[in-house]
Amino acid sequence: MNRYKNQLQDLKEQGNYRALRSAVPQNCVNLSSNDYLDLCANTELYSRFMAEYSQKMLPFSAASSRLLTGNSAQYAELETLLCHIFRREAALVFNSGYHANCGILPVFAGKRDLIIADKLVHASIIDGIRLAQADFERFRHADYAHLERILAEKREHYDNVFIVTESIFSMDGDCADLRRLVALKQRYECLLYVDEAHAFGVCGAQGLGVCEEQGCIADIDFLVATFGKAIASLGAFVLCCGEFRDYLINFSRTLIFTTALPPINLAWASFVINQLANFGERRENLRAVSNRCAELLEIPYQSHIIPYIIGSNEGAIAQAENLQSKGFFVLPIRYPTVPKNTARLRFSLHAGLRMSDVERLVHELKMTKL
Ligand SMILES: Cc1ncc(COP(=O)(O)O)c(C=O)c1O
Repeated sequence: MNRYKNQLQDLKEQGNYRALRSAVPQNCVNLSSNDYLDLCANTELYSRFMAEYSQKMLPFSAASSRLLTGNSAQYAELETLLCHIFRREAALVFNSGYHANCGILPVFAGKRDLIIADKLVHASIIDGIRLAQADFERFRHADYAHLERILAEKREHYDNVFIVTESIFSMDGDCADLRRLVALKQRYECLLYVDEAHAFGVCGAQGLGVCEEQGCIADIDFLVATFGKAIASLGAFVLCCGEFRDYLINFSRTLIFTTALPPINLAWASFVINQLANFGERRENLRAVSNRCAELLEIPYQSHIIPYIIGSNEGAIAQAENLQSKGFFVLPIRYPTVPKNTARLRFSLHAGLRMSDVERLVHELKMTKL
């Protein structure tokens, strides 16, 4: 027992101790959620959904896994919709982005294979890589020349090589050059895995993500995204070829050994995604406020995720508390979520913000030198 107690004590001393908190205080400007399109509390959308679906009495539980009796009609509806909007052959819904990222790579990447991932990919992808039996290399963040050197040296020694990246990086907000990755995957005959968690709903004219924006939806072998962020639901999906989908259904443990998603949530995800193309104004506003925020902070605009790097844990905690006291719900992000000594505030902007919100935010930030 002492070991656990000591570890918790160490965390406290390093300013790295985490505790669950109750929901965001009312009247606070929330800059810490992933509700990028500001749909979670949209009463108009919610009422329309309830008017359409309340008669159908969709269950709040699937009560079994997809391979038993949990594969409700709402799964087929949602997966068909995803195939249709992305014009891809196959889609498979998982219970969350975490399940998808832990359940795909271990199935395809075996002992004679290599996974090469961007240094900053999300913890859920790292966990999937750890579960895979393949060898593993990392390339420096967004350094595709480095990636190419690894490919040139190692490609010939492996059966399959998987290149893995996020599109918009969750903690830095910068965007991968997917076209360049597609060119590399073609040149070196690899498979490309892209996690669009923070871009689905937000980027592209139809809200399909960075793949849409960069015109390479058809070239991504595993295109993963979650419903738990801009879509205001839960669950996730992968787009891939039909054979890969069949393979996942037969071998992916995070798909097979868990209770399926509740039909009501699947229906809600379909309901929101059906309207994704109509949320252009929200996407525009999000881009405009993000742009303005970056400009005021005097950093280059990258996306709706704006990192404000402070360095020390203590400094990040103090600045977050300062902004909270001024009515902005901002949280410090610390190691191990981000590298040591890069503790930061992560401003996660959303479509419901006004210009005056970000102007006031930056004003408060600049007023308080901690
Ligand atoms: C890049 C990335 N992928 C996957 C996930 C996990 O998605 P979910 O919340 O649906 O489990 C996250 C969540 O924070 C993420 O940032």
